[in-house]
Amino acid sequence: MFTLRQSLAALAAVVAAPLASAIPITTFSRIGVSSNGMDILDLQVHAAMSPGHLTDNTTMSFVVDTHSSKITCEGSWAPEGPFPEGEYMPCKNSTLGWNFKEDTYKSMGQFTLQLEYTYTDDSIGQAPYNVVTEFSHANITDTNTDCSEKSMSCQQCTNSTITAIVWASIA
Ligand SMILES: *[C@@H]1O[C@H](CO)[C@@H](O)[C@H](O)[C@H]1NC(C)=O
Ligand SMILES: *[C@@H]1O[C@H](CO)[C@@H](O)[C@H](O)[C@H]1NC(C)=O
Ligand SMILES: *[C@@H]1O[C@H](CO)[C@@H](O)[C@H](O)[C@H]1NC(C)=O
Ligand SMILES: *[C@@H]1O[C@H](CO)[C@@H](O)[C@H](O)[C@H]1NC(C)=O
Repeated sequence: MFTLRQSLAALAAVVAAPLASAIPITTFSRIGVSSNGMDILDLQVHAAMSPGHLTDNTTMSFVVDTHSSKITCEGSWAPEGPFPEGEYMPCKNSTLGWNFKEDTYKSMGQFTLQLEYTYTDDSIGQAPYNVVTEFSHANITDTNTDCSEKSMSCQQCTNSTITAIVWASIA
């Protein structure tokens, strides 16, 4: 896993340079396959539920359809923070990690979720030169989640898919 800072340093140069020369076009072939990113399903965020336990952590879970498997991610944080930013937290399958984009967490239903996914693509080279790390993000807002004060939780709108848009890919 990269730290956010390492990733940003590495990517700043890549992103600043003209796309065609900076990023081998083949690393983007997955985007065509998967439309434009990975799918987030069944996102749920729950506040510490029981009265008298207000200092308990907020918890979150979601499933990512990477288009080769479905991977569950979970996390928790204190309601007043610090929030999971910087390092990517491993999901159940550590080929995938998640965090919040720095300073975007405003509430249980408003934040930018970032994903880091590492996979192999033999069309770009032979092992060990076939490893691609893909960065994507999705804005969680009241357009794709329903929050309830009564149950102190937010849920992805029923039957909806949130697409995490790929913004960088390094091979
Ligand atoms: C709350 O979340 C923080 C950050 O993820 C973690 O270090 C801590 O162990 C959690 N506490 C509980 C009680 O789960
Ligand atoms: C993790 O995901 C990769 C790619 O989707 C898959 O090849 C691997 O078998 C998975 N590992 C586990 C432990 O599920
Ligand atoms: C998320 O929201 C920010 C601020 O409104 C915007 O700049 C960004 O393009 C959005 N990202 C996605 C993936 O929708
Ligand atoms: C969600 O999808 C399931 C299965 O496709 C369907 O049975 C159900 O009616 C849908 N619910 C809503 C609220 O659209």
